[in-house]
Amino acid sequence: MTTLGVNIDHIANVRQARKTVEPDPVQFAFLAELGGADSITVHLREDRRHIQDRDVFLLKKTIKTKLNLEMAATPEMLEIAKKLLPDYVTIVPEKREEVTTEGGLDVKGNVKYLKDFVENLGDSNIEVSAFIDPLSDQINYSKEIGFNFIELHTGKYAELSGNDQYEELQRIIESTHVANDLGLIVNAGHGLNYNNVKKIASINNMNELNIGHSIVARALAVGLEKSVREMKSLITPN
Ligand code: PXP
Repeated sequence: MTTLGVNIDHIANVRQARKTVEPDPVQFAFLAELGGADSITVHLREDRRHIQDRDVFLLKKTIKTKLNLEMAATPEMLEIAKKLLPDYVTIVPEKREEVTTEGGLDVKGNVKYLKDFVENLGDSNIEVSAFIDPLSDQINYSKEIGFNFIELHTGKYAELSGNDQYEELQRIIESTHVANDLGLIVNAGHGLNYNNVKKIASINNMNELNIGHSIVARALAVGLEKSVREMKSLITPN
């Protein structure tokens, strides 16, 4: 069964708009769990534009599900992850000027560096995922590097429509099979919403979907617990 990871970065975005103490993503994680979240995802960015160090350490102490720390593969983040000991880490590319994570990680172009990085996290018993585009060579290199999971970038799928979207969906399905055959656990995320999520959730062996923006946007109308529950019911077969 596909599970739901709820990304609460956008709760922190509202707080940071005023650099104050509310809304507190730590409190909202509790509501996401009540709504059925299977894990809580936060991206601690180098520029700390939304999630803060205080958030990740409090979440680790207070959440009852799993903590997925998204981060860039930098020495600073490695130190934080080893102190925090999240349930798993998802390595993402990070550019200062981007609005959100724009493309997948180039694992193929950074094999040696990432191998050492993943091994270092593994020494602290942290499982590691690579956020990559649905391309077979990126999947093969993720396996070679030693990642336990991959997260397939669904941003393109979310932006396209009609036949182009259908073709991108086929690439994601094929990538899931390729990764499963290599023994990698497959997650997916980015741009998923109440209209486009079902086809991704119904892919065989899709482990977890990480969804943030659409759930937090809907929460403004119905509250976070309900917006999470609605998303969860869409990805869970009847
Ligand atoms: N997965 C990863 C690796 C991400 O970086 C993000 C965005 O922070 C998401 C999933 C969630 O994307 P969205 O907010 O579009 O649902």
